[in-house]
Amino acid sequence: MTVQHLPGSDHSETERLRERIAETLARARRRTVGLTDCIDEAELVAQHSRLMSPLVWDLAHIGNQEELWLVRDVGGREPVRADIDHLYDAFQHSRADRPALPLLDPGQARAYVGTVRDKVWDVLERSPLRGSELVHDGFAFGMIAQHEQQHDETMLATHQLRTGEAVLSAPPTPAAQVRVSGEVVVPAGEFSMGTDDDPWALDNERPAHPVHVPGFAIDAAPITNEQYLAFVDDGGYERPELWSERGWAHRVEAGLTAPQFWEQDGGGRWWRRVFGVMQPLRAHQPMVHVCWYEAEAYANWAGKRLPTEAEWEKAARFDPATGRSRRYPWGDADPDDALANLGQRHLEPAEVGAYPAGASPLGVHQLIGDVWEWTSSGFDPYPGFRAFPYREYSDVFFGGDYRVLRGGSFGADQVASRGTFRNWDHPIRRQIFAGFRLARDLRADEI
Ligand SMILES: [Fe+2]
Repeated sequence: MTVQHLPGSDHSETERLRERIAETLARARRRTVGLTDCIDEAELVAQHSRLMSPLVWDLAHIGNQEELWLVRDVGGREPVRADIDHLYDAFQHSRADRPALPLLDPGQARAYVGTVRDKVWDVLERSPLRGSELVHDGFAFGMIAQHEQQHDETMLATHQLRTGEAVLSAPPTPAAQVRVSGEVVVPAGEFSMGTDDDPWALDNERPAHPVHVPGFAIDAAPITNEQYLAFVDDGGYERPELWSERGWAHRVEAGLTAPQFWEQDGGGRWWRRVFGVMQPLRAHQPMVHVCWYEAEAYANWAGKRLPTEAEWEKAARFDPATGRSRRYPWGDADPDDALANLGQRHLEPAEVGAYPAGASPLGVHQLIGDVWEWTSSGFDPYPGFRAFPYREYSDVFFGGDYRVLRGGSFGADQVASRGTFRNWDHPIRRQIFAGFRLARDLRADEI
């Protein structure tokens, strides 16, 4: 059979891409609106933690980045509000300093992001979505949708830090369908890490390159509350020998005694505060809100270690049957409700075993969604890295005091979560939706 190239098929492909971009941008905006319309103006301008911006800053910053890239750069249009650029430049003002700036008030911020988005619809309509690298396959639009969704996850973290009455709700997570425990052995060998052909992949995920990974074992599931509680009960927070020197210094200085948002009642029972609601600790739920040092101490206690970034990615993407790396553990198809807990569909991690269809070919579960997973790796460029479209996205962070996180949490959207996606943060951060799983070298009899 021969396939005829119909006139106009390129055209309809471009139209489908345009629709997908519009849908992705609209989904991000619905989430932004949902996270900012549920609280009053006083709470929008308040700073709920010095680690976070006031929500009204995130809101206008989302609009400002969209204006800079899509209205001015891609669209070549006149600025909407060049006078406010400096207020919303994340590099000019630390989060702690942002409340003191002459920010747009909530009404102004909403009007501003609305005006920008109206112009973007027009730019999208007219953009060829090919030609220059910036618009090819809709890259700039995809980058801006990812940016908005990343701020939506940050805003969700602000909601978790906020005190007061609960304002967010979501349906319960699905129950476990299978029992998942133990480890999976990943055989030694080369695999392809990173990507060249995922059109919306960011600069730090590129290029694809071969990496030889010695054989290792990795947990089939993230560490659960029950597993972590055993470490707490065994005096994990009182035993300096389990912690690195820096980790112990931080544990003492910050007064860490349990994961953030855990509380023990008079009867010794543990609870977890989840967006303003106290719930009994759920035993089989992946644990969340620990910093890298806590993960490191737990690993030492368990006689194991955190996986390197390459190990994590190989466990997630490598298909031994074909030798190729998949886009996601389950294949190349986009995530859906049966595959991963993403997109703030639920407001907490789902218990281990809830997503058997999302497991990797080697049988590793819940790599995408639920919790970001700390790895042992620092944030460094891949060989052949090229900053695009601007140095401030990744380049300026390389080699800093960061650890890479992988996989995406229940608060991350699918547009900003894939097998190659790299997140990074300081090793002391724990307001992010981060947990971890462990790995270890193979014993001689296992090789
Ligand atoms: Fe940003």
